[in-house]
Amino acid sequence: MRKKVLCMLLAIGVSSPVLSAEKSLYEKLGGKQAIDAVVVELTNKMAKDPLLKKYCANMSKEKIEANRALVANFICKATGGPCEYNGRDMKSAHAGLGINEKEWKRFVKLTEETLKQFKVAPEVRKEFLSAVAPLKEQIVSKR
Ligand code: HEM
Repeated sequence: MRKKVLCMLLAIGVSSPVLSAEKSLYEKLGGKQAIDAVVVELTNKMAKDPLLKKYCANMSKEKIEANRALVANFICKATGGPCEYNGRDMKSAHAGLGINEKEWKRFVKLTEETLKQFKVAPEVRKEFLSAVAPLKEQIVSKR
């Protein structure tokens, strides 16, 4: 009987994220506050980067803030967090910007640097970048 109960508990533990320690990527990143902070730092880096700064040039403070909020909500929702995203889809949002491969690579590098700066663990950084990678097809429009 004791063995049976133990087996049942183990089975529940393996399949249930509540009992096992399985966390969403959103939680592993540290929740919404951490995502907000990462987005602020990443967009600051982009605004200073020789290759990417043109995308932030001529943006009003209000537009930068609104964009940051949209990006943070997008990431929150996409990683399993409790946020609503009411912005455009990634293809429409980046259409006509002419983002190329080299610029995408720079963006990935700056993202990695920012996550490191915020002490996000290597395996979580990897998981995040793997989640972002498929978006390239929708964001990059120039080879
Ligand atoms: C090289 C990489 C990227 C560049 C240069 C870039 C640049 C931009 C720019 C300039 C806008 C404003 C477009 C406009 O209002 O006309 C924008 C919007 C946005 N971007 Fe990106 N982006 C990049 C990657 C990404 C990635 C990887 C994500 C998601 C994780 C993302 C999420 C968004 C969102 C949510 C918006 C707002 C959509 C809306 O206005 O409804 N971007 N991006």
